[in-house]
Amino acid sequence: MTRKIIIDTDPGQDDAVAILLALGSPELEVLGITCVAGNVPLALTTKNARIICELAGRRDVKIFAGCDRPLLRPLVTAEYVHGKTGLDGIALPDPTMPLQDQHAVDFLIETLRREAPGTVTLCPLGPLTNIATAFRRAPEIVLKVEQIVLMGGACFEAGNTTPAAEFNIYVDPQAAEIVFKSGVPLVVVPLDATHKALTTRPRIEAFRALNTPVGAAVASWTDFFERFDRAKYGSEGAPLHDPCVIAWLLRPDLFEGRFINVEIETRSELTMGMTVADWWRVTPREPNALFLREVDAEGFYSLLTERLSRL
Ligand code: BDR
Ligand code: CA
Repeated sequence: MTRKIIIDTDPGQDDAVAILLALGSPELEVLGITCVAGNVPLALTTKNARIICELAGRRDVKIFAGCDRPLLRPLVTAEYVHGKTGLDGIALPDPTMPLQDQHAVDFLIETLRREAPGTVTLCPLGPLTNIATAFRRAPEIVLKVEQIVLMGGACFEAGNTTPAAEFNIYVDPQAAEIVFKSGVPLVVVPLDATHKALTTRPRIEAFRALNTPVGAAVASWTDFFERFDRAKYGSEGAPLHDPCVIAWLLRPDLFEGRFINVEIETRSELTMGMTVADWWRVTPREPNALFLREVDAEGFYSLLTERLSRL
């Protein structure tokens, strides 16, 4: 049986690889891709999502434009990581497949109303604005969600955007708070896990060796993405954050974490967007998230490369 998912995303090279991993995996049925402003503004994230689906030969995938700014705060983008287009690294043709007319938030609400309870998983790979807006507008859909598996937050690794906060949560902390308090079963893939899924020369060359347009694009994106993280962290390669979300759906055995309480800081400017993760269970606060900390990087990259080879 396939698992129905909606990918909520702000592509971004690592978002792109996550989308391709999902499209290459027969266990998953992508009901739609909802775009949000994040790494780059909405006009570019919607364009990039279509470029990615066309690259995969999947013009049939439904792609929706969502919120163009966070709930309360001004939009913060990350061109300094992803380049001016959000998808710098290789020149790909402008997309010709259409964007759906429906707003992403309306699509989320309509889909969750229509589908049987507990049968749709949400996979947010960017700021949580679309999901929080849908939950606020149609609270009855919240309990229909099977699970939310999201990339965001950090605990032991500390922040990548401020000393306290990871990018996706920092950009829209109010939206993150709504999602983390929603009661939906959460799986959180924070920097603590993704910083262990680093690209290496052989891993990038394995993408290139696929000898396909997808392999060439993924190799060039990861090449591009790497330069920033290598300079920042002095690490061997760059973390492929967002594909870890899809990999967890396919092979949860590749990851380890703890079911703990995670709250979002929304009041202090100094620590805005911090994921306050009770890893040592030092409070009586109820656990609300499976918070991942370990990933088997070899297993992750071989799964990813094998699935990309199918596209
Ligand atoms: C997250 O922020 C974005 O730059 C990446 O696409 C990823 O979703 C990592 O902090
Ligand atoms: Ca992302």
